[in-house]
Amino acid sequence: MIDFKSLAKKYGTPLYLYDFEIVRKNYLDLKESFTARKSLICYAVKANSNLSVLKELAKLGSGADCVSIGEVKRALKAGIPKYKIIFSGVGKRDDEIEEALLRDILMINIESEAEFERVELIAAKLEMVARISIRVNPNIDAKTHPYISTGLSENKFGVDIEDAKKLYIRAKNSKYLDPVGIHFHIGSQLTDLKPIKEASEIVASMVRSLKVLDIDIKFFDVGGGIGIKYDDERTINLYDYAQNILSTLSGLDVTVVCEPGRYIVGNSGYFLTSVLYEKRNRDKRFVIVDGAMNDLLRPSLYKAFHKIAAVDVKSKEVSKCDVVGPICESGDFFAKDIDLPLLKHNDLLVIYSAGAYGFTMSSNYNSRGRAAEIAVDENGDRIIRRRESFEDLIRLEEN
Ligand code: LLP
Repeated sequence: MIDFKSLAKKYGTPLYLYDFEIVRKNYLDLKESFTARKSLICYAVKANSNLSVLKELAKLGSGADCVSIGEVKRALKAGIPKYKIIFSGVGKRDDEIEEALLRDILMINIESEAEFERVELIAAKLEMVARISIRVNPNIDAKTHPYISTGLSENKFGVDIEDAKKLYIRAKNSKYLDPVGIHFHIGSQLTDLKPIKEASEIVASMVRSLKVLDIDIKFFDVGGGIGIKYDDERTINLYDYAQNILSTLSGLDVTVVCEPGRYIVGNSGYFLTSVLYEKRNRDKRFVIVDGAMNDLLRPSLYKAFHKIAAVDVKSKEVSKCDVVGPICESGDFFAKDIDLPLLKHNDLLVIYSAGAYGFTMSSNYNSRGRAAEIAVDENGDRIIRRRESFEDLIRLEEN
């Protein structure tokens, strides 16, 4: 059991806390589920890009799925080998493409015809061959939150199947491109296997039709998106997940690439925040805490649910309240109408499942320094990113 109270006392609040034993277990469980095939897990760095998290995963053999050259550099710095790094994302700048090529990463994941041409041009300039994959859009409804659904034609991601085929043929005939992979990602926080299997079937049959054209796809990248439990949602069983994908690949000799972010780190993370005040307006009760939407944006942005509990508060008497931060926005809340006991100044709240898209989506809004991050494992606890100071906030400004 993690002693939230003493950690909050030791490091202060607001505070992010990650249990590295859970991170390791999640990675190893997923890797294990794909043992029937060659597989490569490329952790989606955007979910939690702290260098210590990446190092932990590097030690286990993880690769990295990156969406900016900054993420590529983080992955390399953390010891993830270049041949396990993928560079995805709908809008890559020329300098990012160039650097990714020079750093000789596994592949660049192409998201449009225009980008295809850009990568070819830059590879030609460097007199290099760019290993690429193409993100195809299988036009499948992932049945998740619209902001994190990406596999429909109406979304900005990927290339329609027919267009992708033309690009593969062009790539095959190009001196500067080597089409080694194919990629799809239909959305995030997926709790239903059916759309994943459907997408995998569509993309696998495309791989077969490319084979006929003598285009040999080596990496079959199924994206990320495995959902986790925030509340009482039904989640995907990993064995079923892997089996559903693998069952679509008969006759194909491919390495399955998977890009989980949330699954690896989501439930390893806790956000600790202290109560500043209780406040009542007419009939409504507010618990005002020292953390805010700048620290953990998901509830404000997606109305995402995160379980919240008071630590060591004995009172049995609970009543409904909103848990809100100090930021000058009505949207600054962590939860609405939840039951909590009567709280007093400095009581501690823990917000669960905060390991993914928590710190990485934080900002300095309202000139608030970002929270500290700490890691806990069998060796104890340690700081992995210190709390930002006022000097950190103004460091890049001229005056
Ligand atoms: N691969 C690609 C191409 C992606 O776009 C994403 C996530 C992943 C992998 C990792 O997905 P995951 O396994 O973590 O679901 N900020 C949102 C989530 C945005 C996800 C963006 N793409 C949230 O807080 O729910």
